[in-house]
Amino acid sequence: MKPIALADWLQQWLNVNSGEPAYRQLYRLLRQAMLDGRLPSGTRLPSSRELARDLSIARNTVIQVYEQLAVEGYVSAATGRGTFVEDISQDTIDSVSAVGWNDQAGPAGQSSRGLSTRARRLIDRLGFSRRQYGAFMAGLPDVAEFPAKTWLRLQNKHWRNSPGRLLSYAEAGGYAPLRQAISAYLYSSRSVNSNAEQVVVTTGIHQALDVATRLLCDIGDTVWIEDPSYWGLRNLLISSGLKVEPIAVDAEGIRPSRHDLRHPPKLIVVTPSHQYPLGMVMSLARRRMLLDYASKHGCWIIEDDYDSDFRYESRPLPSLQGLDSAGLVLYVGSFSKTMYPGLRIGYMVVPERMAEAFASALAELYREGQMMTQAIVAEFVREGYLSSHVRRVRNLYAQRRALLIDVIRSHYGDSLEIVGDEAGLHLVLALPEYVDDLEICRQAFERGITVRPLSDYYLHEARIRRGLLLGYAQVPPEQIEPAFKILASVVDAQLSMRKQSVV
Ligand SMILES: Cc1ncc(COP(=O)(O)O)c(C=O)c1O
Repeated sequence: MKPIALADWLQQWLNVNSGEPAYRQLYRLLRQAMLDGRLPSGTRLPSSRELARDLSIARNTVIQVYEQLAVEGYVSAATGRGTFVEDISQDTIDSVSAVGWNDQAGPAGQSSRGLSTRARRLIDRLGFSRRQYGAFMAGLPDVAEFPAKTWLRLQNKHWRNSPGRLLSYAEAGGYAPLRQAISAYLYSSRSVNSNAEQVVVTTGIHQALDVATRLLCDIGDTVWIEDPSYWGLRNLLISSGLKVEPIAVDAEGIRPSRHDLRHPPKLIVVTPSHQYPLGMVMSLARRRMLLDYASKHGCWIIEDDYDSDFRYESRPLPSLQGLDSAGLVLYVGSFSKTMYPGLRIGYMVVPERMAEAFASALAELYREGQMMTQAIVAEFVREGYLSSHVRRVRNLYAQRRALLIDVIRSHYGDSLEIVGDEAGLHLVLALPEYVDDLEICRQAFERGITVRPLSDYYLHEARIRRGLLLGYAQVPPEQIEPAFKILASVVDAQLSMRKQSVV
């Protein structure tokens, strides 16, 4: 990009009214332009005087940003010659968007000196929040509704019955009765075909994804993910040294272009039951296409079925794994949403021929434990407590969802679209393209409301849509309206800022 084009581009994104200091905006944008190759190595940046003039900002701001980028190794300054972009190709991630959201303090780059490239990739664009509770944190079930008395009774029983081997390290693959119970539960609830040996107990989907990518991919292999997709997945893959290819989605789920199809990846990760975060269900035609393509080209598929137990208006399609006759799909899920996230118990269902390798690798890598908890979960699932709990909270979540939609509609009418509200634990409130959803999230966070910016789930800048993810499942009904009013005041201020600048 030539200097003048750089100034034009920066001008499009800099927003003096956003509340984010110009220094931070400029730092973030320039760094991103270098990471996504917009500013290739060797490019001479405009002088601080020129850039400050073109952007109508203080020259000191530009100098400060150039200095920060130099400290972090993104640019180098040669006295009298100018400031040049360094070779950071090792850090490059294809097509990364120009936005980045986390509610951690300060630019992540500052704390990353001395860390490996993989670690820097991980913390450069953190997704996890400092707050893990409260309105409208996405992805949380209502943990207060968990049947604690039943759990306590089962727990007491297992501790009383001479715990013995349950207190040792875990058996490879996890506690056998739990593997059996999960296999039966997934068959009846999700049409997943497996025997108990194919079920490997994990500490959640994150760990399942970590193990699966280690066992199926080598460093540098290409992985397709949906664009937009879950930040946890994106960061895990990027930090594992894999080449992440963000693939577009439409109303039927992942939609590889002709160009994509000409370059088969090693692995494809999808959320067919409930696209994360937009919420559509992958059509049967698309499922067939994906399975057919994977079997022709020898790709693996991971089906992330993170919250499909919560569907309010229709029955979910059976799992992709249930349709797979070639043994290419690995199904991953967890009890984080159906029981409680802090439990940290999940599972993967792997093809029969891989079962032993996966169970042993997991035991070798992580020296698993938690057999006592696994024994309690096994009974909880086997005796039907899980199914009845899910049925009960599903009704509760459906009411909260309806309440939140009513509150949104009474404030905004039909002027803002609500997306993906048929299932799961969150919905997306779509915003006009000109609105800075990251800024809304920052301001809302300061006021005690946790929402996530839709734009941050995209990797391809050209596909970015603006919006907010609102989790409703764990918000008590009486708090939904007051919490939304606080959020709406922040959203309204952003919407009106634009109106004023248009007038
Ligand atoms: C799409 C998706 N996959 C995986 C996870 C993480 O699941 P777990 O708690 O089992 O690690 C989440 C968490 O919200 C998610 O949204």
